[in-house]
Amino acid sequence: MRRNRDADWNDWPVADYLAENYHRLHPCDIGVIRHHAAVYRRCAPGALARTLELGAGPNLYPLMLAGAASRRIDALEPSAANVRYLRRQLDEGPDASWQPFFRLCRSLDPALPASCAEALRPVRVVRGTADDVVPGTYDLASMNFVAESVTEDFDEFTALCAAFVRAVRPGGRLLAAFMERMPSYRIGGGPVWPACPVDDTLLRAVFTPRTTGLRIARLAKDRTLPEYGDTGILLLRAERPDTTVPKPER
Ligand SMILES: C[S@@+](CC[C@H](N)C(=O)[O-])C[C@H]1O[C@@H](n2cnc3c(N)ncnc32)[C@H](O)[C@@H]1O
Repeated sequence: MRRNRDADWNDWPVADYLAENYHRLHPCDIGVIRHHAAVYRRCAPGALARTLELGAGPNLYPLMLAGAASRRIDALEPSAANVRYLRRQLDEGPDASWQPFFRLCRSLDPALPASCAEALRPVRVVRGTADDVVPGTYDLASMNFVAESVTEDFDEFTALCAAFVRAVRPGGRLLAAFMERMPSYRIGGGPVWPACPVDDTLLRAVFTPRTTGLRIARLAKDRTLPEYGDTGILLLRAERPDTTVPKPER
């Protein structure tokens, strides 16, 4: 069994990953963006002081989506290759291939600024892993294709999800996307990356005891993507329980 530390995340194949997944808008991206935009749209512009994108990778669309509601977005990512890509996108402007993603995000959330570069202005790239998250820091945390795509160990998957939930303050919001039933996978012709196949039942077992307002939706398998062995995508929204004890009435 390969655990998270057994893979060399610094060697993540950024160019191949982008070419396979994000050089054009796939039907599954539209589904994920619609799901996440519905949550951000309900937040007033600038209402969230600090939000987290856990395991950001080189994917810019979750960062764009947060751009209207969040005053500071931490893109937390362990891989040197992904951090380099993200910093270049922020410093030199996003690649043209991200424009269709931004147009869709803005059509769903008109509070987003007119340009993608502007929407990404609150983003800070932070090098680190889920272990580096200080509990209770964020108003909202988002995690896309991470906990299930970085280890073959279900206990470690659960620990990553627990760190994701703990990242937000009590009452904070959680937004996530998971590949459904995806085994360990290859990007391009490269090495095998560790994954654990998760389904709706497992997500409920992991998140029900840790969250409130849990909702899980499903997107059908996207056949325009390479064959990763998945059966679709699971979309999650929930909140961390608000543990504030109500004051006794006098
Ligand atoms: C399949 S990629 C998903 C990237 C991106 N979130 C997306 O939507 O395309 C998995 C990402 O998780 C990152 N990662 C690996 N181990 C991690 C850990 N322990 N904590 C946080 N992120 C991790 C990898 O570097 C990689 O960027």
